[in-house]
Amino acid sequence: MTPALASLESSDWYYDDLKHVGVDFSDPVQVATYDARQKSTDAAAASLLAEIGVEAGQTVADFGCGTGVLACQASLKQCAVHAIDISAAMLEATRRRAAHLGATSVTTQQAGFLSFALEPASLDVATTQYALHHLNDFWKLVALQRIHAALKPGGKLLLRDVVYSCHPSEIKQTVDAWLRWMQEERGYSRDENVTHVREEHSTFAWVMEGLLERAGFRMLEAKYAMGVYATYLVQRPGPTPP
Ligand SMILES: C[S@@+](CC[C@H](N)C(=O)[O-])C[C@H]1O[C@@H](n2cnc3c(N)ncnc32)[C@H](O)[C@@H]1O
Repeated sequence: MTPALASLESSDWYYDDLKHVGVDFSDPVQVATYDARQKSTDAAAASLLAEIGVEAGQTVADFGCGTGVLACQASLKQCAVHAIDISAAMLEATRRRAAHLGATSVTTQQAGFLSFALEPASLDVATTQYALHHLNDFWKLVALQRIHAALKPGGKLLLRDVVYSCHPSEIKQTVDAWLRWMQEERGYSRDENVTHVREEHSTFAWVMEGLLERAGFRMLEAKYAMGVYATYLVQRPGPTPP
């Protein structure tokens, strides 16, 4: 970590991000039913890694790794992988998946965005999907600064999450349409996603873009879908090491 981040972390007001906000992913029922509902596939994870240019020999960290689909695919691409999550049950599922697939280079770490321990400038690629919204915007910025410090100059971050890109006047219809879609297409109860909107910390696209920029990242690509999903590919500026 940088000295500035290290001194922030020693403050008595530093946030304990090991506690679950909104959906409790330490609940074994959430973990057992997660993959079927999320519809993550090995093929989609492998093609996402190819799309962002992940190569054999690189070091990758997936933050909020859940059941480890992306982490295991990165390992099968011959990367050294840190699978990081606050949920012991999710990390157990990740280890089971890794054993099943023969993904031998996955190291799990029970920690959050604000508490992970990685060497400074040690990652080629960082990924995080559907997890950063567990922090409010203030702590999102700190999380992004910590990831920035863990990346090598030239390293990339793939951030995908529920981020509102709709016009403020369209919030009601956008959110209601999303809640219906999650019930019909993904089998989530209305309650679970109502909790997301009401109690978790998904933010607006213009806020997220500002947070990424202020954390020191350069935007490479931003994609939005349904007014509620965003995928950003950003880079820590600097020379790409050989
Ligand atoms: C919706 S799941 C996403 C899992 C996986 N990334 C995926 O795309 O399927 C959110 C994950 O973030 C984890 N999580 C919640 N708060 C976190 C935090 N502060 N730091 C890191 N991970 C967190 C949860 O335990 C859970 O595994």
